[in-house]
Parts: sequence; structure tokens; C-alpha cells
Amino acid sequence: MKQGFQKYIPFRPIPLPGRTWPDKVIDKAPVWCSVDLRDGNQALINPMNLEEKIRFFQMLVEIGFKEIEVGFPSASETEYEILRALIDRGLIPDDVTIQVLVQARPHLIQKTFEAIEGAKNVIVHFYNSTSTLQRKIVFQKDMEGIIDIAVQGAKLVKELTNAREDKKMHIRYEYSPESFSGTEMDNAVRICEEVLDALDATQENPVILNLPNTVEGATPNCYADQIEYFCTHLKGKERAIISVHPHNDRGCGVAATELAIMAGAQRVEGTVFGNGERTGNADIMVVAMNMYSQGVDPRLDFSNLPKIKEIYEQSTKMKVHERHPYAGELVFTAFSGSHQDAINKGYAYMQNSGTPYWEIPYLPIDPADVGREYEPVIRINSQSGKGGAAFVMQQSFGYSLPKEMHPEFGAIVKHACDQAGRELRPEEVFSLFETEYLIIHRPYNLKSYKLFEENSGEGDAAVHFEGVLRFEHEDHAISGVGNGPIDAFFKALKTVGITNYTFVNYHEHAISSGADSKAVSYIHLIGPDGRTLFGVGRDSNISLASIKGIICAINRSKKTAE
Ligand code: KIV
Ligand code: ZN
Repeated sequence: MKQGFQKYIPFRPIPLPGRTWPDKVIDKAPVWCSVDLRDGNQALINPMNLEEKIRFFQMLVEIGFKEIEVGFPSASETEYEILRALIDRGLIPDDVTIQVLVQARPHLIQKTFEAIEGAKNVIVHFYNSTSTLQRKIVFQKDMEGIIDIAVQGAKLVKELTNAREDKKMHIRYEYSPESFSGTEMDNAVRICEEVLDALDATQENPVILNLPNTVEGATPNCYADQIEYFCTHLKGKERAIISVHPHNDRGCGVAATELAIMAGAQRVEGTVFGNGERTGNADIMVVAMNMYSQGVDPRLDFSNLPKIKEIYEQSTKMKVHERHPYAGELVFTAFSGSHQDAINKGYAYMQNSGTPYWEIPYLPIDPADVGREYEPVIRINSQSGKGGAAFVMQQSFGYSLPKEMHPEFGAIVKHACDQAGRELRPEEVFSLFETEYLIIHRPYNLKSYKLFEENSGEGDAAVHFEGVLRFEHEDHAISGVGNGPIDAFFKALKTVGITNYTFVNYHEHAISSGADSKAVSYIHLIGPDGRTLFGVGRDSNISLASIKGIICAINRSKKTAE
């Protein structure tokens, strides 16, 4: 990289000896506030239209948000009309509070109060910039001037609320010292105390103090230090609800949120999937699911994440990245063979041990908890390893291939992947299995058969096999007697010169396809050339399933010999 880094001023962490947040653990959900419809929306190339915003709002309500920032009604007519539509159409549930943002400027505050007329529960969120940089470059004001803007704003907000006393509106307040993390901490504390006083905040009617990491400019621990400093230095803290609003410029929005909660934040503002100005806001879905995966109830419902993602993508025209935590297309997919093997063992362990906990390596959460299925957990590519294909057959189609058969079928799948030059979908894996084992009727085809048992009267039973085997364009009647169906069938094969196949063992299990249940039999033979061979038979008759499996193995040996 060309030299250029010298032009950047490093962030100066605040001294905070005796900080306590590193020892804290997140054990309860904060109050969540979605700012998707404001911070998220204002960062879109094409902001949402009325219908899109309404649909998104309804989705946020379904997820469980009780506080939703719906817009900036004084900023544009569209924003104003959208807010009116939500109120006039009665779309805001009684237990949901809408939040509106406004700069601490008198005419904008006036317009905002006009826009919220008739809403039951509202948070009027006003802000002004307080950071050292903004004061120097944008406002050219000293701190006294900045405090005056906030206090005048607070007084007007209070006055306009009082004027609506008879209107049955429940109006609460939020103040943000914008760019809080770039503000000297004593200035941030001071301005917020003045605002609390101007609003007559009390423990019964606390004011939300929202402390934005407007541009993330330091490691997340620095933000956590600032939050802890603020919480421990604010006079009359019980009059305030401490809220955080992290952005993601260094890619640490989620981390900064988590550390801020540890440092004392009671409320979090962010967006679902992290859309927002520049690199976005803190991703509330990820913060919430991180809690969930630690056994903490996030009090938000992401059990239908694919649907949420679909609505998000349609409304914002943004894409959720394939590797996005919890939501990405690929996040429950294991490509590596050793990962697949471990996951496989994890599922087996869960089933056999009956553990009440989620204990599967490489899968931090149960995909089903976010509306994903086990089926796509493993995708098959040429690196998947022999267990991967067997896992798909088991998980997606209910076929439990015996372990000794895994290398053979694994090699078939690997070859097909190499040929296709891509990964295979589960249905393609099944189709390979079908072609290789289930629909192979040449050179030997059993056209009819009869099996019956004869008892000597002394407890010894002999099984008789009689049937017609078609090969070399002719039907051959065959018969044999043995101590079981498999033995009898081998004896019958001998009568037409099919010899030199040694039976090793077989596995069978039932499989349900639709209403009818079938037996699947896996036959392991050693062929005339000493090679290991597998055959699979499937039939509603368990004996015929094994016999079909033997013919399958023999047919396959002929196919490979040809
Ligand atoms: O990022 C920010 O500082 C904001 C404020 C307006 C709260 O969005
Ligand atoms: Zn923001």
C-alpha cells in the first residue's frame, strides 16, 4: 500500500481505570428499537415507497419490535405522508410505539408534532451534533452554543407535548448527542444532563438518552469504555434509559453493541441485517441470535428468517450476503469432509444420547430454529468426503447406507461432481443412487418368483426359491433350497451357472415413501475377481428386497467387468 496512513488521526481512548464491563455477561435482552425505516431507509439508493414501508413495518411488528423509528417526517413530504398513513389507517398496534426523528430546530420540531397528531404512543427523538470535529468544521460553535441548541429543542418539545395534554397521546422523548463517540465525554455527559433537566425527566418518566457511534472509529472496547463512563458519571441516571446506536464502519457494529450492553446500555437501536448509512447500522438480528445461541431469550422472533430475508430483499433491493451470520445461503452448509463427518456424528449423538442441549460441531445453532432445514446442511462437492453423500441419503431421503458402502457410493458421487465441475444438489445425489443401484435390470432380470418354507417337524425349516430369471434374451426357470431366502436364491443361481459370488453380509431397514412402507436391503458380496460389491434392493416384501439386492450387486459386477 502506498504511504498514506500518516494522514489519519488515531482515536484517543479515554482513561477508565477500574472498568467493570469486561467481566459482565449478557443475560437479558435490551429494549430493541428498529431504525430500519429511518436510518436504513435513508441509506437506500431507492428509498422504500409507501406500500413497501408498510409491509416492512408489519414485518417488524411480527418479529416483536415494540419501538420502531418510522421516519423523519419533517424531512420530506413522502416521509410525512407515510407516517400519516400508518396513523390514519390504524396500522400501529397499541403495544407498539412509533419513533420519529427530528433535528433540534424549532420549525422542524413544529412540523414533526403536526405529523404525529393522533398517534397513541410516540417517541419524539431529537438530536444535534456534539462531536469535536462537527463543532469545529460544521457548526463553528463552542460547546455552550451546542448545549443551547439541545436545550432550546428540549424546551420546545416539552411545550408542544403539554399543548396536546388533552389528546390522549402518550409522548415520550429521546435525545441523541449525535457523534457521541467523537465527543469529549464530559461534554457528552453535560449536554445530556441539561436536556434531562429541560425535559423534567424523572424516574417515573425517564428520557431515552441515545449515544450514537455515528461513525465507528475505534475498537469496540473504546465504545464500551465510553458507555461505562457515561453511565457512571451522569447525574440522576435513574431519569434516563441508556440507548446505543452503533454503526459499522470498521465492521464491528455487532461487537460494539454487545460490549456496550455489557457496559450498561439498556436499549439498542439498529436494523435487521444491518442496512444503514455507509457500512450500515448494528445488525439487530445478529445481536439477538447471538444471545439466543447463548441460552438467552432475545425477545425477538427470527424463527422464519427466510421469509424475513425475502421481504427485506424485496423492499430494500439489497442482498443478504451468502455468508451473513444466521441468514446467509451458505451458513448451514459444510463443504469440508471432516466437518460433514463431525456434523453427522453430532446428529447421531443428539439422537442416541437424548441430550436436551444443542451439541453439534460446526453448527452453532440448530438451523431449524431460524426456519432452515437439515436438508441443505450438507452440499456435495468433490471435497465432501465419503460420509457426505451417505449423510445426504440419510438426512434427505431416509436411506441408511452401511458404513462399508460409504467409500463406494462416495467415489461415485465424487466422480459425478468432477464431471459436472460443481456441487450436486441432494436430488442429484439421489438420482445417482437410483441409477447405480435401484434401476439396474441387466444382464439379469428376475421376472417372477415364489418363496415358501417347509418345516421338517423337528424345528428345521427349509426355504424354497422358485423363479424365472431372464438373461441372454431368454427366460430361465431356476430353483434352490436353503436355510433362508438368500441362501435358497444363491443355490438357485448356481443351477444356471452363476457362481463364485461370496455373500459377506446384509443390512436392511424400512423406509416410508408416502403412504406405503418398503424394505431396503444392502447386500455386500465378494465378486469372482475378489472385489467387494454392493447391491441395493427395495421392495414392499422384505425377502424380495434382499433378492433384488443380490441381483443388483451381480448386475453391477457385470457392468464394471464389461
Ligand atoms: O448515527 C447517528 O448518529 C444517527 C442519529 C441521528 C441518531 O442516526
Ligand atoms: Zn445512525
